[in-house]
Amino acid sequence: MAAGRGEFKSRWGFILAAAGSAVGLGNIWGFPTQAASNGGAAFVLVYLVLAFVLAYPVLMAELLIGRHAHGNAVAALRGISNSRLSAGIGALTGGIGILMACLILSFYGIVAGWILGYTASFPIEALGFTSAADWLIGFDLSRNISLMVLFMFMTIGIVVGGVHDGIERWSTRLMPALIVTLIALALYVLTLDGASAGLKVYLLPDLSRIFSGDLIFDALGSAFFSLSLGVGTMLIYGSYLSDKENLPSTGAQVALIDVGIAVLAGFLIVPAMFVAAERGVEIFDARGALLSEDTLIFNVLPALFETLGLAGTFMATAFFALLGVASLTSSISILEVPVAFLVEQFNWPRKRAALTAGALIATVSGIVLMNFDVLFGLVVTLTTRYGQPILGLMLCIYAGWVWRQDSLLGELKKTDAAAETSLFFRIWPVYVRFVCPVIVGSIVIRSIL
Ligand code: PHE
Repeated sequence: MAAGRGEFKSRWGFILAAAGSAVGLGNIWGFPTQAASNGGAAFVLVYLVLAFVLAYPVLMAELLIGRHAHGNAVAALRGISNSRLSAGIGALTGGIGILMACLILSFYGIVAGWILGYTASFPIEALGFTSAADWLIGFDLSRNISLMVLFMFMTIGIVVGGVHDGIERWSTRLMPALIVTLIALALYVLTLDGASAGLKVYLLPDLSRIFSGDLIFDALGSAFFSLSLGVGTMLIYGSYLSDKENLPSTGAQVALIDVGIAVLAGFLIVPAMFVAAERGVEIFDARGALLSEDTLIFNVLPALFETLGLAGTFMATAFFALLGVASLTSSISILEVPVAFLVEQFNWPRKRAALTAGALIATVSGIVLMNFDVLFGLVVTLTTRYGQPILGLMLCIYAGWVWRQDSLLGELKKTDAAAETSLFFRIWPVYVRFVCPVIVGSIVIRSIL
């Protein structure tokens, strides 16, 4: 273990930080809008099942590997290897994970920048500065780049503070604020006309959709993205966790908060869409399908808020601030992946590592922005559709097949002497060996075909 590694100071701090990483655009934006356009409750059901049957076991693999190694992804996968070949492949896998994390942040930072722009635009508009407000929400290169850079500075600023003083401190402040705002907004929207039509779509499953391959595939992708899996984020957070914590229950709490917030966000977004429709905002396209996800967040909801007068200005500001907070607690966890690597592998000071990695990622974002039509979708697909599931598969293989079973079981027993009698202990090791790789593998193959 590297000397002077940071550590989460409290169990709750870790849970909020890991949940903060997990809860982000994937939950508050992606999940509800995908649910709305994929048969409502049918999607919700499949998502819930996959989150617990598949994403949770993979989350546990990442947390366990990370905590066992107390090191970054490259060092950790090399560390649990049993031969030179597996050590080499492990290091390569960890390295690709770090690269994927950087690419994810390169598009995440762009979208989060837009969110900052929207957050500021509503109060600025209300104060009468219309052209400034228009600039903040207009799609031009200077605005896109400035906002992305601003967001990256916020992310870097927190990560420079380190695990306890940066990540843990900010996550424990921001996450409760996020949950309270989300509940308040959902309660308000549910009182408006039209909300009940949305609730119906959200809660009554269109059963014919449940077994469609695309639905399962989309739901799995969302679950992996939403729980921050595959790219070493949870591995590195696990590595900062003390040996005293009971991992299966801590991991389960993180997964529960993540899924809970996604479901909660659905109670806000889906009814809000139907409230908007009630007020004459178009929510379906010419073919009668729901508008695409980004249109919903960046057009439909602002149009709805506009019809609500001053209350709408408050709601809009609160809503986008909420999205901004959720993005920030996720982006710090993504930046931590390359930063931990640079600090541990090359002995760089944390500040230099955070600034260098942040600047490189912002440069990539800039390139993506300059070629937006070609690159944006490509980077999102490459990282979330292929990268995350394939790396998740590799992690299962390392946890299930490469890591010596006695060492893995020892890691589980560290905190809980009676672990051997627990259900988790009996099921998970076999599960991560056989079931996870088969399911994740078949989904990966399907996505490639
Ligand atoms: N889980 C985050 C979200 O839902 C995104 C993320 C992906 C974070 C991968 C870290 C790693 O928005």
